[in-house]
Amino acid sequence: MKRTKIKELLSSPKTGEDVLVKGWVRTKRGNKNVVFIALNDGSTISNIQVVAEASSFNEDLLKDITTGACLAVTGKLVESQGQGQNVEIAAASIELYGKSDAETYPLQKKGHSMEFLREIAYLRPRTNTFGAVLRIRHSMSFAIHKYFNDKGFFYLHTPIITGSDAEGAGEMFHVTTMDLANVPHSNDGSVDFSNDFFGKPTNLTVSGQLEGELGALALGDIYTFGPTFRAENSNTPRHLAEFWMIEPEMAFYDLTDNMDLAEDFVKYLIRYALENCREDLDFLNNMIDKGLLERLNFVVANEFVRITYTEAVNILVNSGKKWEYKVGWGTDLQAEHERYLVEEHFKRPVILTDYPMSIKAFYMKQNDDGKTVRAMDVLFPGIGEIIGGSQREENYEKLLSRIRELKIPEKDLWWYLETRKFGTAPHSGFGLGFERLILFVTGMSNIRDVIPFPRTPKNAEF
Ligand code: 4AD
Ligand code: MG
Repeated sequence: MKRTKIKELLSSPKTGEDVLVKGWVRTKRGNKNVVFIALNDGSTISNIQVVAEASSFNEDLLKDITTGACLAVTGKLVESQGQGQNVEIAAASIELYGKSDAETYPLQKKGHSMEFLREIAYLRPRTNTFGAVLRIRHSMSFAIHKYFNDKGFFYLHTPIITGSDAEGAGEMFHVTTMDLANVPHSNDGSVDFSNDFFGKPTNLTVSGQLEGELGALALGDIYTFGPTFRAENSNTPRHLAEFWMIEPEMAFYDLTDNMDLAEDFVKYLIRYALENCREDLDFLNNMIDKGLLERLNFVVANEFVRITYTEAVNILVNSGKKWEYKVGWGTDLQAEHERYLVEEHFKRPVILTDYPMSIKAFYMKQNDDGKTVRAMDVLFPGIGEIIGGSQREENYEKLLSRIRELKIPEKDLWWYLETRKFGTAPHSGFGLGFERLILFVTGMSNIRDVIPFPRTPKNAEF
């Protein structure tokens, strides 16, 4: 007999048919005559109830069916006599694939803290919460590809190992095959990379943008969707050392086109979740964050505010608030400032544009005022910055002089500069932090809990 997934069984139940299901025991209860097993196979948050007459089964087998054990069950799908489910399986045979020692299985019935679940990240996908988060994460990945494919964007695979620093912030993990106990040095004392694997210093990418720009200047509209790495020592609920980023890059887009795309894109993704992940969202709305569905619907239904950095600073300065971090024109905005704008002042997502050149990356298009750039950050309630992007500096001289001002090694970026010599074009793009999106869509509060195996300072287990 072919196995049926529980999601399929429950969505169009054909009572009277014989079925085979396979999954893990969530709970077992009953008495000496009958045993009720709640079985989950991950296809849906719902369990199927398996009813086993004790007299029809070996006593030892029934004893071994404990929380966490893995079973294959055949039986007839019947209308349920009890409450809480419409159908159940009257078990005819049960095969025990894997026992689960009741004394040592870490996932007991009681609710566990998120901190504890992080320590057992190899098992937490078996909880309702993480099952829901991971299914939503999958749906969002799929929706991202669908959105761009439907719009004629091409998925460009940018390298994970690079020789440059795309953000110019120096937060990179080195990639080397050198013997760290015996690193060769040149005569001047610097590390000699000539015999290293690539013959030069390399690192894990912080962003696929620079290569993405090369793609856009040939294919028109592209996007990347891959892992990115930042060796910033930020121990916050919003930062990972390894996170996934979606980076569309579009030829012939100015900053307004870029903002329009960003707003349309995130609204599409949230709408997609509301339409396709309803069961999991209902669960999270009940158990994790009672305001979740309301917030998702609100964001989809309302226009984002669009103001300049300068206007935002004026609002913050005039707010009468006491800030932990000082705010004034030229300072980078901190989470407290971003959240004030979004959660208290405007009470909706905000796109800030035209930041001071000095606090943004070298590649952003310079405004005529000589002090601001065509940057945009999209700020979300509960999250802060969810998207960062800009129009790109397409002028060779301006780009080169900015690179020199910032003392960024030209030799690492010669190929990037070349594109401004051969058919340069106005273009724009942005990066959406995938885990920050998932935080928003699930209502979870820590970024470590929306990625299967988080990497953060001092933590690379599993
Ligand atoms: O603002 P960022 O650093 O921009 C870039 O990397 C550009 N190259 C994007 C582009 O224009 N193509 O990062 C973009 C987004 C942020 O808005 C945030 O959502 C997320 O990536 N992000 C992080 N997410 C988790 N952990 C971190 N350490 C993150 N750093 C950035
Ligand atoms: Mg940013």
